[in-house]
Amino acid sequence: LAVLALWAIVGYLLGSIPFGLLLTKAMGLGNLREIGSGNIGATNVLRTGNKSAAAATLLLDGAKGAVAVLLARAMAGEDAAQIAALAAFLGHCFPVWLGFKGGKGVATFLGLLLALAWPVGLLACATWLATAVISRISSLSALVAASWSVLWCLLVGQGQIFVLTLILAGLIIWRHRENLARLKAGTEPRIGGSKA
Ligand code: G3P
Repeated sequence: LAVLALWAIVGYLLGSIPFGLLLTKAMGLGNLREIGSGNIGATNVLRTGNKSAAAATLLLDGAKGAVAVLLARAMAGEDAAQIAALAAFLGHCFPVWLGFKGGKGVATFLGLLLALAWPVGLLACATWLATAVISRISSLSALVAASWSVLWCLLVGQGQIFVLTLILAGLIIWRHRENLARLKAGTEPRIGGSKA
């Protein structure tokens, strides 16, 4: 149990690194909290107009989820990997450094899924991408990808991560409640649009 607690802490600390905020600050792109949705994720970094910063945020926020899983798995096995995955996700959404006001967890979710069970991760990324190509709405793509990833676990025989994926998908939907309200109202901005 002490080992699992340790990986929960390591996962949380990794997940709580707010790459979007750090990068935009370092690159002088303004205060992310006052731009677009105010969120710290790659989608909102893109609204600064800097595509490289957005791509780097996506990759790094994804990588921290993957690294948490791979480290935990290598050193303590599969249970520790799942605990680290959950903790990294919670770290991103509720980082102590930002008064627990973090992101929505989408990039971190995709990264940790790729590391936990790559077929599910790849299918989740493909679902996000397909929805994004069709709708050009990041939040909608996240909601569809998160929901479908629960099914992908079962459809490709990765039932061992079903419960974790279900919990994470639920949290992602909950974190998108403001986006859901905008989607219902028809005011959610499209990728590449300027407003939020
Ligand atoms: O990854 C978060 C995305 O799904 C929505 O971001 O900034 O449009 O609320 P945002």
